[in-house]
Amino acid sequence: MAIRLSRTFILRKLHQLSGIMPLGIFLLEHFYTNSKALAGPADFNNAVKDLQSIPYILFVEIGGIFIPLIYHAVYGLVITVEARPNNLHYPYARNWFYTIQRVTGIILFFFITFHVLNFRFGLIPGLNTLSVARNPGQSFEIVSREFHNAWIFIVYVIGITATVWHLANGIWLFLVDWGIVIGERSQRLTGYACIAFGIFLLAVGINAAVAFIHPGGLLAGFM
Ligand code: HEM
Repeated sequence: MAIRLSRTFILRKLHQLSGIMPLGIFLLEHFYTNSKALAGPADFNNAVKDLQSIPYILFVEIGGIFIPLIYHAVYGLVITVEARPNNLHYPYARNWFYTIQRVTGIILFFFITFHVLNFRFGLIPGLNTLSVARNPGQSFEIVSREFHNAWIFIVYVIGITATVWHLANGIWLFLVDWGIVIGERSQRLTGYACIAFGIFLLAVGINAAVAFIHPGGLLAGFM
């Protein structure tokens, strides 16, 4: 029996998959590299240098990050425009999560555009005209100088929080939608696991950002 899959179904599945692989995996790698700042400027700069020395890095970035990101972002906005939030009628947590997934998606769209232009390309006039990636010897200093501006730091805290929420809730959506977690009880338990994972990831992401303005991060002196 031949199974015909509609175009929307395939686009939708690709959207869900791209959120996990490669984007979710990339986020974990990104937080890992950023956490090198906890050990000081030299360790962070070496981590950036190592990444930039990956053979064919430009193609890895284009194929592994930029294309999936643009696809996920643009199709995500299309889904958002078509969305019918019903949380005002039904005050269930899942309805709120549905809306917050879309709101964080919109925040991410603007935040990631700003973040990539700012640190990857150094293209924000008046703020930063040096690419962190292309100047590994000064990477820590470029980020640190910007994060000492309270407004920029707040923008990053909001961006990191929105990203972590979006991924943690997104993992749950993915597991349920792909039929990996079936049944009311397992879905509830997986929900708690995603919340725990999100809290952990948020702490790691914020701590790495703090390390650029406070040596050693939030736990300096304890570890
Ligand atoms: C850049 C702007 C982004 C927009 C506009 C956006 C939008 C969306 C939307 C609307 C959904 C819900 C889809 C649905 O319910 O069917 C979604 C799901 C998801 N997003 Fe994003 N997103 C963005 C970036 C990201 C990033 C950077 C990541 C990874 C860190 C990510 C990971 C996910 C995951 C894992 C899902 C769940 C997939 C599923 O529904 O099964 N998204 N996104």
